[in-house]
Amino acid sequence: LSKIEIKLSDIPEGKNMTFKWRGKPLFVRHRTEKEISTEAGVNLAELRDPQHDKDRVLNPSWVIVLGVCTHLGCVPIANAGDFGGYYCPCHGSHYDASGRIRKGPAPLNLEVPYYEFPDDDTVIVG
Ligand code: FES
Repeated sequence: LSKIEIKLSDIPEGKNMTFKWRGKPLFVRHRTEKEISTEAGVNLAELRDPQHDKDRVLNPSWVIVLGVCTHLGCVPIANAGDFGGYYCPCHGSHYDASGRIRKGPAPLNLEVPYYEFPDDDTVIVG
């Protein structure tokens, strides 16, 4: 199984970087304090695919998800859309800064792969 190792200090706060992992785009997002508190406070009853933010992240500063829209597989755009997370331009799906689907045709949240933080500056995905 292939793994990817990413240096976290290369990704400034507020920025999302895209990597390639197992042939797919992988998003690593360094969230701001505002994004962290907004996503932690979302009412699960508003969600199509209800998942608490804390069940999608190991560390609230970092969102690590596959960059594959759960509708038909396009690559969403970061820091866009009505919920400030990701926007898929193919058919208009809006995801929040936890990668949860909020509006549009996609049925599910962006997928969270298995990952771990071996130290404060490194994530290994896979
Ligand atoms: Fe993303 Fe259809 S593939 S909205």
